[in-house]
Amino acid sequence: MKKKFKVLALFDAVRPTTIDQDLSKEMKTEDWKTEANVLTALRTLGHTEEHLAIFDDLDLLRQKLATFQPDVIFNLADQFKNNRGFDQNIVSFLEMQGVPFTGCSATGLVLCKHKGISKKILHYHRIHVPNFVVIPRGQRVVRPKQQLKFPILVKPVKEEASYGISQASFVETDEQFRERAAFIHESHDADVIAEEYIEGRELYVGLMGNSRLKVFPIRELVFREVPPDEPKIATYRAKWDEEYRKRWGLQNRFAEGLEPALVARIEGTCRRIYRLLTIDGYARIDLRLTPKNEIYFIEANPNPILAEDEDFAQAAGKAGLPYPQLIDHIIRQGMNTLRD
Ligand SMILES: Nc1ncnc2c1ncn2[C@@H]1O[C@H](COP(=O)(O)OP(=O)(O)O)[C@@H](O)[C@H]1O
Ligand SMILES: [Mg+2]
Repeated sequence: MKKKFKVLALFDAVRPTTIDQDLSKEMKTEDWKTEANVLTALRTLGHTEEHLAIFDDLDLLRQKLATFQPDVIFNLADQFKNNRGFDQNIVSFLEMQGVPFTGCSATGLVLCKHKGISKKILHYHRIHVPNFVVIPRGQRVVRPKQQLKFPILVKPVKEEASYGISQASFVETDEQFRERAAFIHESHDADVIAEEYIEGRELYVGLMGNSRLKVFPIRELVFREVPPDEPKIATYRAKWDEEYRKRWGLQNRFAEGLEPALVARIEGTCRRIYRLLTIDGYARIDLRLTPKNEIYFIEANPNPILAEDEDFAQAAGKAGLPYPQLIDHIIRQGMNTLRD
């Protein structure tokens, strides 16, 4: 039988918590689906599990580590004080504690979080990325006309889960461009990245590993009922609004009809991206595949959503890792990581 571990599942919370907080009500909600799925898997696997949700108090975590003395932390905390930019700081703290943890190290999180920095690194290594500019808050919004051609997507430079992305993010005139950038600056209090819009299929590739990588079967978001000349964007509503998804025929499924040679090229590109951005643990890489089969990098997501029904776990399942085994793999890999 495989060795069992003491696993501390670490969550974030949107309001202050206590060390022995009862989270059973939250666990039944959609927002806590990933946490609930992971806890169920830990029990199925026979590990000794305890959990803790933190809001803004790292002392709780220190106490928990002292009393429970886990072998490994299953890290699902990706915000602190309601700020999703602090995921990297939590992981930096874990690194300093010297307790093994699952998922990506701080450097990988930092590089991937900034959609400009990750693209600069990849562009240097000749991976296709959309032309882009970063426009910080407080800077006048002008489009560098030579570098950036319409249509353009205007996004917050450091967000996740399509926060701040709607159909209005897709702009075709300088006026729309200025308006949307000002909206992100002001209403989202965020710096902007404006990228040339890459027309093509929307592909998601799951990878897992540290030194040796597994690449999972490619997923695709299809826009079945969106007319051909309309932009196809995974907006906030496209991800999270079931009714909207139904109306436009949006569906996450396995990518069909890709030639084996193309699949190999996509996998190879994703392996390179994973290493170049110093990702470890597990990640989902978002790509666009143009009608000419050019592969464009859109975004890398270390520690992607791990809910059982999401793309990453679905892809792992198809690769022969049913959910509890996937969770077990992530744990064992977290324990074997040398972090410096
Ligand atoms: N340059 C681009 N060209 C085409 N589509 C894009 C581009 N950038 C973003 N998108 C669309 O917007 C979605 C969300 O963008 P992304 O940068 O991944 O933000 P998030 O981190 O919020 O997921 C993508 O999945 C894609 O559908
Ligand atoms: Mg994305």
